[in-house]
Amino acid sequence: MSTAKKDFKRITTRVLRTMKENGEKISMLTAYDYSLGRIVDEAGIDVVLVGDSASNVIHGHETTLPITLDQMIDHASAVVKAVKRALIVVDLPFGNYQADSKLALKSAIRIMKESGAHAIKMEGGEFIMESVKRVISAGIPVMGHLGLMPQSIYKYGTYTVRAKEEEEAKQLLTDAKRLQKAGVFSIVLEKIPQSLAAKVSESLYIPTIGIGAGPGCDGQVLVTHDMLGINKEFSPRFLRRYANLFDVIEEAVQNYIKDVKAGEFPSEKEAY
Ligand code: KIV
Repeated sequence: MSTAKKDFKRITTRVLRTMKENGEKISMLTAYDYSLGRIVDEAGIDVVLVGDSASNVIHGHETTLPITLDQMIDHASAVVKAVKRALIVVDLPFGNYQADSKLALKSAIRIMKESGAHAIKMEGGEFIMESVKRVISAGIPVMGHLGLMPQSIYKYGTYTVRAKEEEEAKQLLTDAKRLQKAGVFSIVLEKIPQSLAAKVSESLYIPTIGIGAGPGCDGQVLVTHDMLGINKEFSPRFLRRYANLFDVIEEAVQNYIKDVKAGEFPSEKEAY
C-alpha cells in the first residue's frame, strides 16, 4: 500500500505535492456515481475524477461536448457521498467557462457548493488563463489539462497524439509553466509524446497526471469504464485493461434470462 494510504486521512492538493516531492506516483481514476465511487475509493485511489467523459460512457454521446453543468453536478454529488479518502476533482463542462472568466467562476462555484467536491479541472492553456486565475482567487483549486483536449475535438478533427511538432510542444511547455504560475495544483497531460511529458514533469514542481503520456508523469489516470473493459470498442494503445467486465456482465445477464425463462428463478429458498 502507498505511503499516502497509511499517512493521510483525506488526500488534499498539498498531499499530492508531497507525493511528487517524495517520488510517489499518484493514481487517478474516473467515477460518475455512488457505487463506482465507493469501489475506487475503498481500493485506495488517490484522486477521483468526475470527468466529462461521462458524456461518452454514461450518456452515450460521441463527444464530451453535450454534457451539461447540471448533469456534472448530479454525477459529482453522488460520488461525493461515496468517497471518503480520495481528492474529488470535477470537470468544468464545455461551454461553462470558455466565454469569460466570470462565467468560469460562476460554474466552478456551482460545482463546489452543490456537489461538495474539492476541486475543478479545466482544459486549455493561454486562452483560459484569466479564468483559471479568477477561479483560484476565489479559493477553488484548479487542475489543468493540456495536450489532447477532448472538448476541442472539432478543432483538431482527430484524437491522434498532440504536440509531436516542435512548435506545439514548445507552446505546451509554456502553457504548463504559466498554469503553474497561475496556481493550478496539478496538470493532466493527455496523449502527447512521452519525452515531452517527462520534460514537462521535470520542469514543474506541481504534479502531472498522464493519460497516454508515458511513464515520466508524476501520476496516471484512466477512464474506469475503459480499464475495466465495460467498453469493448475503445482500445487505444495507451489503455491497459485490468478486467473484461462487458463479458462478465453479459454472461451473468444471459444466465439470469435463462433461469427466468426456464422457471428456475426464483427457487423455493428465494421466495417468501
Ligand atoms: O473526462 C475525463 O475522463 C478526463 C480524463 C480522460 C483525464 O478528462
